[in-house]
Amino acid sequence: MHGLISLNTFEKKDIGHYLSLSQEMGKNLFSKFNTHGGKIASTLFFEPSTRTNLSFQAAAQRLGMGTLDYSHATSSSKKGESLQDTLKIVANYSDIIIIRHPKEGTAKMASQICDIPVINAGDGANEHPTQALIDLYTIKKELNKLEGLNICLVGDLKYGRTIHSLLRPLALFNAEITLVSPPQLRLEAKMIDSLKSELGAQISYADSIDASHADVIYMTRMQKERFSSQQEAQALRALCQLTAQMLENAKKEMIILHPLPRLGEIPAEIDSSPHAKYFEQAKNGVPVRMAILHDCLTK
Ligand code: NCD
Repeated sequence: MHGLISLNTFEKKDIGHYLSLSQEMGKNLFSKFNTHGGKIASTLFFEPSTRTNLSFQAAAQRLGMGTLDYSHATSSSKKGESLQDTLKIVANYSDIIIIRHPKEGTAKMASQICDIPVINAGDGANEHPTQALIDLYTIKKELNKLEGLNICLVGDLKYGRTIHSLLRPLALFNAEITLVSPPQLRLEAKMIDSLKSELGAQISYADSIDASHADVIYMTRMQKERFSSQQEAQALRALCQLTAQMLENAKKEMIILHPLPRLGEIPAEIDSSPHAKYFEQAKNGVPVRMAILHDCLTK
């Protein structure tokens, strides 16, 4: 059963495959790939979502599929049904499952008990592989290359699952990576060490955002729902904000990305800057997720 749980085993060619298929999808939003008529995609979201859930549903419908949106609040899980039983039932009603859950490893567990493909739409602070593919697609589309870029990752690197999925592909494409976060929200040293030893990743730390060398500044929000103290989240947030002044000596082509939602990391005045590409990035969710659904349903 071919789903998408993690990008951990992906090689450059796998990423290239998804990016070219996404490009094809982007050119044919209305017809060519409308070949999945009659099939059903179910979205099971146990955490809030706007972009991921809706763009998966839009992608499925663009492919001619129907969608079922499981509602946690009104489902039998409220009567005490186990997640495993819920998954088995939904799998019997669908051709593919897209799941988001606060607990790390849930998508993998789902893929082991469902006999249809399962896509990980975020498992706790662990991974968000489809968002990373959208990020890579956006970078390639905007800068026309992925190889050897200078990338600054900013914010909650400890709990930010989009970062966890994006780092390895960036290292595969020999990015020069700068990590900017408060010390409490640094990436796990284990993750950095393994990327350095496996891929020779070039990763360094900085205390603040220096836009002058960056090709990409990738902002993230504080994952306050994963903090034990909300005051701590609030205090740390102030340390990871982008300002218009910081962009004054940026390269002309530099792009700013953010998986969204933003909580003040990027002030609205930056939205009109030619560097701001986060709304484009969100829009790219549809063709990239069409490519992922198509691929999972045809392999
Ligand atoms: C991200 C997520 O859910 O991890 N959102 C998204 O899918 N675009 C980022 C976030 O919530 O901060």
